[in-house]
Amino acid sequence: MNREEILARIHELKAKGVEVPTDAMIKTDEQIEGIRKASIVNTKVLDEVASQIRPYMSTHEIDEIVRIKSIEFGGKSAVYGYEGYPAYTCTSINDQVCHGIPSKKDILMPGDIVNVDCTTVVDGYFGDSSRMFLIGEVSEQRKKLCERVKAMLDEAFEALVPWETTLGDIGYLINRKATSYGYQVVKEVGGHGVGLEIHEDPYVCHVGKKHTGMLITPGMVFTIEPMVNEGKRHVFLDASNDWTIYTADGSDSAQWEYTIAVFEDHCEILAK
Ligand code: MF3
Ligand code: CO
Ligand code: CO
Repeated sequence: MNREEILARIHELKAKGVEVPTDAMIKTDEQIEGIRKASIVNTKVLDEVASQIRPYMSTHEIDEIVRIKSIEFGGKSAVYGYEGYPAYTCTSINDQVCHGIPSKKDILMPGDIVNVDCTTVVDGYFGDSSRMFLIGEVSEQRKKLCERVKAMLDEAFEALVPWETTLGDIGYLINRKATSYGYQVVKEVGGHGVGLEIHEDPYVCHVGKKHTGMLITPGMVFTIEPMVNEGKRHVFLDASNDWTIYTADGSDSAQWEYTIAVFEDHCEILAK
């Protein structure tokens, strides 16, 4: 199906009362190719971070790896200057849920867990993904949190069926799994459409009800990026920088993110 055929099918379903994506959420094959290229660079940048990250490194050094390697691999970090964001990546340590700002003062210590979240732009197309890294010897509890959140993301991805799964199904699966471990899922920040801009509609909530919300159709490109807290789900924004989000109870938080494209009969992880 090309974009026109997909839209025709979507409009038919809409007439029947199904909650469907807007026309703007449906990309052409050519656009998805562009997003794929950006995502490949994004994945390579994170691979580079993975190969260099080590105890006693500052998060500023990670920012430098991201800044330099993004360019070396043919792209550019998309977050620098985005709504005034002052760095090239996000580095969120332990109880930082997301949008940790790299700093020369933040030194990765043995036992820390850190999320590195990159968005790369290539030829006007965007890819977005993040991973957790374990610094030195990490407690069993923290290791489990990181592994389990990745498994939740993988499970949600594996469950995606074009023309069948809804956004609510994604949130349902992730939240069910998280709560089964006694964890809680952050609701205030979630996944999003991506590709022609850093953040596009729809919002992808990681808490949801089965068979509710928007139908997932071919042509959609979006992230799934659950933020899961060891303790309570509540979070607060650091008023001193207006970016970094922390768990309210000081418990640890982990996150993984993929950029996902939907095709006629399967979904594909573009950036991981
Ligand atoms: N990569 C982040 C996301 O997953 C976007 C961060 S925007 C920033 O949505 F400005 F905080 F970097
Ligand atoms: Co991201
Ligand atoms: Co994202």
